[in-house]
Formats: sequence, structure tokens, C-alpha cells
Amino acid sequence: MTREAAKVDFDRYFDEAFQELSPESRHLRFFTPVRELPEAVRERLSDVDGVVNAAVLALDAARCTPDHPEGKAIGVARWMARSVGDQPAGPPELSVTVIDEYHGMGVGTRLMDALLALARQRGLRRIYADVLRENVPMRALINRYRAVVQSSEDPVVVRYRLDI
Ligand SMILES: CC(C)(COP(=O)(O)OP(=O)(O)OC[C@H]1O[C@@H](n2cnc3c(N)ncnc32)[C@H](O)[C@@H]1OP(=O)(O)O)[C@@H](O)C(=O)NCCC(=O)NCCS
Repeated sequence: MTREAAKVDFDRYFDEAFQELSPESRHLRFFTPVRELPEAVRERLSDVDGVVNAAVLALDAARCTPDHPEGKAIGVARWMARSVGDQPAGPPELSVTVIDEYHGMGVGTRLMDALLALARQRGLRRIYADVLRENVPMRALINRYRAVVQSSEDPVVVRYRLDI
């Protein structure tokens, strides 16, 4: 199942899900095979207000534990924007991350669907995504949403625009 994430979810799920990303997935997501995220980045990622920054979680309800009654956290999709005060300054950027054990099972697709539905609900019209050129799975995923390739200053990055 997917649902919108709240700040408290990051305390509960972030570290264990991050541990289940291979070095390759970390590289594709963060553009560097980071072993640990700096505190400032973690803080920024968990700072979801549902407008400037929002996230959707995927949980595997078949794997619930007393600690995690909703199930195991297996992926997250988010948008992030720069802000002026509490308002976004320009269109946000999206990203999707699924833990390696669950790749290729449709979780990324469900997260994209849920994130774009939430974006529409919140009145967003446009989202960008920067994807490493080598990231075949993410490029396959985003291409399903009629994303338009933009010019990118960085030759290793493909910049997409999604009108929603
Ligand atoms: C990109 C990512 C989110 C896709 O999630 P997923 O749950 O595996 O995606 P799905 O199962 O819904 O499949 C989506 C598309 O990707 C394709 N795909 C999935 N794994 C693939 C692989 N290893 N090689 C090629 N294509 C792949 C699927 O075939 C599908 O496209 P299609 O239906 O047109 O064939 C996941 O691979 C991931 O988390 N990667 C590491 C982090 C990352 O790169 N994030 C993106 C940063 S912008």
C-alpha cells in the first residue's frame, strides 16, 4: 500500500530502508555511492510539509511486525522545491527510491502514480526530475508518464519535465 508520509515516518523508517539500498542504488539516487547521509540532508529529506516538500511511502503490509504494524517500508517517492517562506519558489523536483529486494515488482510505478495524484490534489502543474543517463530503470519508469526531455547542463544527467 502507499500513503502520504509524515515527518515522524522518517524517524521510524528512514535508517532501516536506507540500509537496504545497494551502493548502486545509492549512487543512482544521490549521484554518489554515499554510505551515510549527512545530518543536514536527512533533516531536509524528513522535512515534509505536503506543499513545498512532500513524500509518499510504500509499505509491504504482508511484513508487519509489532514495531511496524503497517508493514515494512519498501520505497518512497517525493517532490522537493526551494522555498521562500513557506511557499515554493518554482516547480519542484521528484525522485523515487525502492529498496533493492523489491525492484522490478511495480512498486516504483505505484509510487509515481500516488505522488502524481497527490501533486494534482495539491495544485501542482509541473515537476522536474534529474536522472543519471545510465539509470535505465528510472528512465523507463518516467518515460511512461510522457515526460519531456529538457536541455541539461550536465552530460551525465537527463532532465525531464512532467506536466501534470
Ligand atoms: C528506479 C526505481 C525507482 C524503479 O522502481 P521499480 O519498483 O523497480 O519499478 P517498476 O517495477 O515499477 O518498473 C518501472 C519500469 O522500470 C523498468 N525496470 C525495472 N527494473 C529494471 C531494470 N533492472 N532494468 C531495466 N528496466 C527496469 C521496468 O521494466 C518498468 O518499465 P516498463 O514497464 O516500461 O518495462 C528503482 O529501480 C530504484 O529505486 N532505483 C534506485 C534509486 C533510483 O535510481 N532512483 C531514481 C532517482 S531519480
